[in-house]
Amino acid sequence: MNNNRSDKSRSGRKARVAVLVSGGGTNLQAIIDAEKSGIIKSGHVSLVVSNVAGAYALSRAEKAGVPAVTLTRRECGSQEAFELRLMDLLDHEGIDLIVLAGFMSILSANFTSHYPRRIINVHPALIPSFCGKGFYGLHVHEAALAKGVKVTGATVHFVNEIPDGGEIIAQKAVRVYPGDTPEILQQRVMRQAEWKLLPAAVEQVSREIIG
Ligand code: GAR
Repeated sequence: MNNNRSDKSRSGRKARVAVLVSGGGTNLQAIIDAEKSGIIKSGHVSLVVSNVAGAYALSRAEKAGVPAVTLTRRECGSQEAFELRLMDLLDHEGIDLIVLAGFMSILSANFTSHYPRRIINVHPALIPSFCGKGFYGLHVHEAALAKGVKVTGATVHFVNEIPDGGEIIAQKAVRVYPGDTPEILQQRVMRQAEWKLLPAAVEQVSREIIG
């Protein structure tokens, strides 16, 4: 982590942002696009890390010219070794802000305690509904539909040692309609909420970091 805050504000430099991904990377794309369009001006996407080999998010990073690395738990041998390698990488790259954008692995308290208020996550429901262990990706929308909720949404929050338990930064509600499938609902939540909330939160936290 780069802690030299006064130098940052004097030089007007941007927060270095690492985006952690596991899959399609539409949220990564939203962040890349937001930097390009100037919605994100206080941060720069400096690194993408995928814990899944061949994830499409890696192609998105490559296309945007963002350095991308694959790091899997399997190749590291254990979660502990994976997290140590990840910390080394993030520190080596001088990363200020870690963004979990469809990152489907729970990070241990040992990892999260190294980066207080420097890790944010997007979750595809209105926390505290449909969150915590086992609630990820499409499963979240399956659970929301099974419960029969009429409103769901997305949440961006700081990451601490409790899965989906950190301080909430932003939320946006999204309507559920009769006939929705998990896939249809997922797309609506992404389009109406996630792809807007997450880039806005990256800008907000980056601004706080360089401030
Ligand atoms: C997104 O809906 C994101 O909120 C969710 O997975 C999807 C990833 O899509 N994340 C979680 O469920 C994490 N708990 P993407 O790879 O296209 O951004």
